[in-house]
Parts: sequence; structure tokens; C-alpha cells
Amino acid sequence: MMKITEIRHGRAIIWFSAVLLVFLAATDALIVSQQRRILLNIQRRCVNNELALMATLTREALLKKDYRTVEDFLVQWGSEHTDMLEIRAVMPNGFVLAQYKKESSARQLFRARSSVAHEGEHLADLEVIKDFTGVEDSMDKLSAGLVSASVVLVAFLGFFLWYTLSVTAMRPLEKEISERRKAEERLQGALSLLSATLESTADGILVVDKKGVVEQYNQKFAKMWRIPQSVMSASEDAALLQFVSAQLRQPETFLEKVRELYAAPELESSDSLEFKDGRIFERYSQPHWIDGVIRGRVWSFRDVTEKKKLEMMLLQSEKLSAVGQLAAGVAHEINNPLGVILGFAQCALKKSGDVPALDLPLRSIEREAVRCKELVQNLLVYSRSSNKNEREHIDPVPGIQAALSIILARAKTQRVELSTDFQSSPLKINVNKGQLQQVILNLCNNAMDAMPGGGNLAVKTSPASRAGGAFLRIDVSDTGHGIPDEIKSRLFEPFFTTKDVGKGTGLGLALAHEIVENHKGAIEVESSAGKGTVFSVYFPVSGEPPANVV
Ligand SMILES: Nc1ncnc2c1ncn2[C@@H]1O[C@H](COP(=O)(O)OP(=O)(O)OP(=O)(O)O)[C@@H](O)[C@H]1O
Ligand SMILES: [Mg+2]
Repeated sequence: MMKITEIRHGRAIIWFSAVLLVFLAATDALIVSQQRRILLNIQRRCVNNELALMATLTREALLKKDYRTVEDFLVQWGSEHTDMLEIRAVMPNGFVLAQYKKESSARQLFRARSSVAHEGEHLADLEVIKDFTGVEDSMDKLSAGLVSASVVLVAFLGFFLWYTLSVTAMRPLEKEISERRKAEERLQGALSLLSATLESTADGILVVDKKGVVEQYNQKFAKMWRIPQSVMSASEDAALLQFVSAQLRQPETFLEKVRELYAAPELESSDSLEFKDGRIFERYSQPHWIDGVIRGRVWSFRDVTEKKKLEMMLLQSEKLSAVGQLAAGVAHEINNPLGVILGFAQCALKKSGDVPALDLPLRSIEREAVRCKELVQNLLVYSRSSNKNEREHIDPVPGIQAALSIILARAKTQRVELSTDFQSSPLKINVNKGQLQQVILNLCNNAMDAMPGGGNLAVKTSPASRAGGAFLRIDVSDTGHGIPDEIKSRLFEPFFTTKDVGKGTGLGLALAHEIVENHKGAIEVESSAGKGTVFSVYFPVSGEPPANVV
């Protein structure tokens, strides 16, 4: 197969040859016409000389008006000169005195005329017509020779040029071009590999120059930071930085760090970024070196929200299991003596009818013993040693209403308005009724603790869907002091409380969380300081008959 470079050379050579051929043809034409002019001049001069000689030789006879001799002369002259086709002696009045003429098929004729005079008297004109075909033939031969010489020259030059170009000049050039092409292909391959690697990484990567102007990024970066394509493609680093920092909890700290790193291009640094929406990114930044010179900076971001959540959950579950073990021990040690205290107290109460003074102390012992038993029971939920795992397939609303009736008295004394909104068509869930009520009570007690000066407490149930499943949602909302952002992440930790010693154990939400988790449900909180709080509890809706979970 012919190489492209060869085709290109071939074309160039053909063009060159064509132009050269045209130039040579023009030159040939010029030479031939020049040559013809010269030959014609020579011929003209010869014919003039011939005419002059003829005039000299015929003057005598013309003077004597011996036209016979003139004619004889003309005939003899004509027959002696093969190229002479016609000779005429013509009187000034046009009368032909004598004439020689021979038949010819000549293609080119040459005419000349000369007058014969004597002492100023014009005797006659001599006219000749000569065959000029020979001159033309030699001109044609000259042209043919020149044309063939030109063609040979052009062919030779063309070949010479082709040889010189391909062998001496083009081959090395071709080699260089092919090497460059290969290098380009290798570079393209490396670039596409780099780009594929960049796009396939789980991290968001941004490369900027020393001034912070964006040079390259992967789609993951734009996606992680939720940066619209318009902002990305505008490549305005100030706008980009603004967009990015606006999502963070502490934008100023981040901007300060960025400024610090741009001021010290050789620094490497890493930290964690907390987003307003709860996400957490790990940030790593290092200088971008090319041939030992810092050209900019590479930023990489990794979304570690899930990882952190898992770590937190692990921590939480470690704490819970510690509490569980503790609870199991405490429950074991306390449950039996408590049972004895409660049993004897109740027994003594029955028999104390005759001694009224003992009634109040015995009832107090019974009440406090029951309270302690309940606390032990709560702790047993953690230890999972509780045997209260029997579940019923029920509409939870009556159970919720029963729980609310317990807190009604407190609500009234605290000027808390209690309102309920239960979904019209009952949704059944598989639940341990006692534990459900415990969750509701804990949430309502917290709500009332948050409204010491009164307020509104609303309990609402509604159907909900989560991750494709059907759930019953129970919202407990209050108009209390709300929960500050800083403590939100710690709410469900066991023993976390903001209440004074003796007023809260910090077990209420931890317990509610544990119960809901055991039911494969979820608990969420929505709160802003000063505006109130909504706790939402989700229990999976079940169409199944009650199943006891052991
Ligand atoms: N509705 C609410 N409004 C404001 N803060 C709340 C609300 N619910 C819970 N909290 C906060 O969460 C903390 C933990 O609540 P949790 O019920 O676990 O413990 P507690 O109420 O302090 O003690 P207890 O064991 O007696 O329930 C509370 O101390 C309180 O700061
Ligand atoms: Mg509580």
C-alpha cells in the first residue's frame, strides 16, 4: 500500500512537472517563432539579392524591349532554382511582360518584388513566388526536437526530484513523522488511562494552578460537592470556592485553610469537613509537581459520612453493650432483693389494716419498690435479657391513648395543651405494647420537660413509606426550647442528659431508640433551638398475624 507521504510527494512532483512543462512549452514556442523570424529575414535578404541580380541581368533586354530574352531568362532562372515557383516581369501599368510558372503543392509561399530601373526610368517590376515549405519543415522539426527535449528534461527532473525527496529528504522526515505519531499515540493512551483512572476513583479530585484556577477535575468532584455544570465550566475559582464553602458548617475555617495552602504551595495537609446537611468529607491536599517545580495543587475529597456513621454506631453499640452487661449484672443482683422487698411490703400492707400508722410507710415502700423494678426493667431491655419480647399484631392507637392518659394529669398542672391526630384507617403493627407505651411516655415526658412554662404537645400517627416499605409514623411534637445542634448527635447515648442531677438519668431516649431498633423501626428528630422539637418514630406496618420474637 502506498504511504500517504508518497502520495503527497507524487502530487507535488506532478504539479511541478506540469508547471515546468508549460513553462518549457512557452519557451519552445518563443524560440521557434524567433527562429522563424530570423530565417524569414535571411530568406528575404537572399531573395532581394536574387531579385537584384535578376534585375541587373534583365535590365539590358528590358531597355531594348526584348521581352523574348527576358522570358527566356526567367524560364532558365526558374528551372535552375527548384524553390522558385513563379517569376514575373510586370510593366508599371500591370502588363505581364514575361513569366515563368511551375505547378506546385507547396504549403508555404514566400512573395517578393523588386523594380528594375535605368537612370531614373522605371522599366518593370520583377515579382517572385518561392516555395517556403522547406523552412516551415525545418521549423516543425525544430519544434518537435524542442518539445521532445522538454519532455525528456521534465521527466528527468521529475524523477530526480522524486528520488531526491523520497530517498534523501523524505525518508528521514517520514521516519520522524511516524515516530512522532507513535509517541502521540502513546501519549494519547497514557492520557486516556489517566482520565479513566481519574473518573473511576471513589474520591472527588480537583487540580488547580498556583493561583487556584481550575485545571482539571473528575465528575465525582462536581457530584460530591453538588456543583452545577455552569459553575464548573465557568472556571471562576472565586465563585467555585464560594459555592463550596457555603455548604460547610464552618466556611471561614475552610477558606482560611485554603488561603494558607495557596500561600505555602509546598505544604501537604488533610482534615475533615463537616457539611450543614450532616455529610462529612475527608480532605487531602498536596502540591502538584512537574519536573521538580510546583505547578499547582491537587485536592482530593472522600465522602466518609457512612464510615463515620458506622464508627459512631459501633461506638454506640459498644457503649450499649457495656451498659447491657452492667444492666444484666445490676438486674441480677437487684431484681431478687427488690422482689423480696416488694413481696413483703405488699404482704405487710394486706395485714396492716388494723395499724393505720403503717399504711403510708408501707405504700411508699411498695411505690418506690415498683419504681425501682421499672428502672431495672428498663436496664434489662439493654441487656436483652428481658423476657418482655412478646409482640402483638395490633392497632397501636389505643395503646398510645392509654399512655397519654398517664401524662394528662402532669400536662394539666404544667399548662401544656395536649392534642392528638390519629390516622382514620387503623394500621396494624407487630409490637410489644408495653414497650410502645414506654417509648411514647419517654418522648412525651421529654417534651413536657422542654416546656416548663407550658406549650403545645401534639401526638399524631400517619402512614409513611421508607426505603420502599410501609411504616406507621408516630410524631411527638412540642413547642419547647428545642435541641441545640451540638448535642443532637448525642441524644440517644445512654446516660446523656442535660438535666440536673436527680432529674434525668439520660436513659429515656436511649431506651426508646433500643426498643424501636428492636422492632426494625427508626427514630428521627427534627428540632431548632427556641422553636420546638418533633420526634418521629417509625414502626413497620405488618399484614402478618402476631409473631412472637424470642
Ligand atoms: N423534646 C425535647 N426538647 C428538648 N430537649 C430534649 C427533648 N427530648 C430530649 N431532649 C434532650 O435530650 C436529653 C436526653 O433525653 P433522655 O430522655 O434520653 O434523657 P433525660 O430526659 O435527660 O433523662 P431521663 O432518663 O429521665 O429520660 C435530655 O436531657 C434533653 O436535653
Ligand atoms: Mg427523658
